[in-house]
This record gives sequence, C-alpha cells and structure tokens, in this order.
Amino acid sequence: MSEVTNEMMVRFKSRHENVTFARAVAVSFLMNLNLNLNVISEVKTLVSEAVTNAIIHGYKNVRTKDVEMHLSYDDKEIRIDVIDYGVGIPDLEKAKEPLFSTLPEEERAGLGFTIMEVFSDDFEIESTVNEGTKVHMVKRYEDSDLTYK
Ligand SMILES: Nc1ncnc2c1ncn2[C@@H]1O[C@H](COP(=O)(O)OP(=O)(O)OP(=O)(O)O)[C@@H](O)[C@H]1O
Ligand SMILES: [Mg+2]
Repeated sequence: MSEVTNEMMVRFKSRHENVTFARAVAVSFLMNLNLNLNVISEVKTLVSEAVTNAIIHGYKNVRTKDVEMHLSYDDKEIRIDVIDYGVGIPDLEKAKEPLFSTLPEEERAGLGFTIMEVFSDDFEIESTVNEGTKVHMVKRYEDSDLTYK
C-alpha cells in the first residue's frame, strides 16, 4: 500500500440500527474519492456483513458492547477493519466455508464471509476465543471506478 492519504475510526454500540449507521459513515468518508456506485455498493455490503457478524455472533446480540470500524484510503485502495471484543471464532477455516453458520435456526445462510471474500481484493480474519475478532478487507479501485476523472 502506498502512503495512507486519509483515515478515520469510529466506535459504536452493538445495536442493529448501527449497521445502517456504519454503512452511511463509510460512504460519507469515501465521498471525496468520487467512486462510482458499483464500488460504493460493494463497500456498503462489506461493512454490513462484517458489522452484522460482530453484533450477532461476536456479541450474541447484546446491545451494549463496542464495535470499532477503521477506514483508510490512498490513491489505489480502501482498507476496512471491523473489530469486536466478543466471543471470537474457534475454527476460522470452518467459519469461512460457504454455507457454514452457527445460527442456521435463525435462517442465517452462512454466506457473509464468502461475500466479503468475493467483494474484497484482500480479506483476512484475526480472531481469538474470548478476546474478539478483527476482519480486515482491502478494496482496490482504478480510474474506471471513479465518477469524475
Ligand atoms: N465477529 C464474529 N465473532 C464470532 N463469530 C463469528 C463472527 N463472525 C462470524 N462468526 C462465525 O462465523 C460463521 C460464519 O459467518 P458468516 O457471516 O459467513 O455466516 P452467518 O453470519 O452465520 O450467516 P450470514 O452472514 O449469511 O447471515 C458464523 O455463523 C459465526 O459462527
Ligand atoms: Mg454473517
């Protein structure tokens, strides 16, 4: 990655309405890049999936915990980190498998990580049981992804 040109961090409570908030904050932060709508909507999906996981899995829907989102960008890529200090993931390989979910009874498809992997150019999960989870995603963009050149 070349030098970071801009970065921000936000911390919010583990409430479902904050999925919408996180998405909106990410879009606002990236507004100056003039990215086209496809890239923006993919970033929104990445943020939604990661923040939803932090709330429903990391914190088991307890609404008083803290979720952090870090965003940065340079002239080539956007980096997104979503962090929780919740239960952690015991088996990362299993968790990343398409259609694997520990909440199938709640009609979870088990596709969040698969979607994150597909929509990002670089995708890493760090997790420790009882300490929490950090999802790191990189989205590269090019001139053709910009609305104004
Ligand atoms: N932040 C997290 N903390 C703890 N466990 C997690 C976290 N994120 C994901 N997991 C675990 O990984 C599994 C797979 O996550 P993934 O997002 O792919 O599927 P899902 O959330 O179960 O279903 P979907 O995203 O399709 O609604 C989850 O079922 C859960 O067990
Ligand atoms: Mg999910």
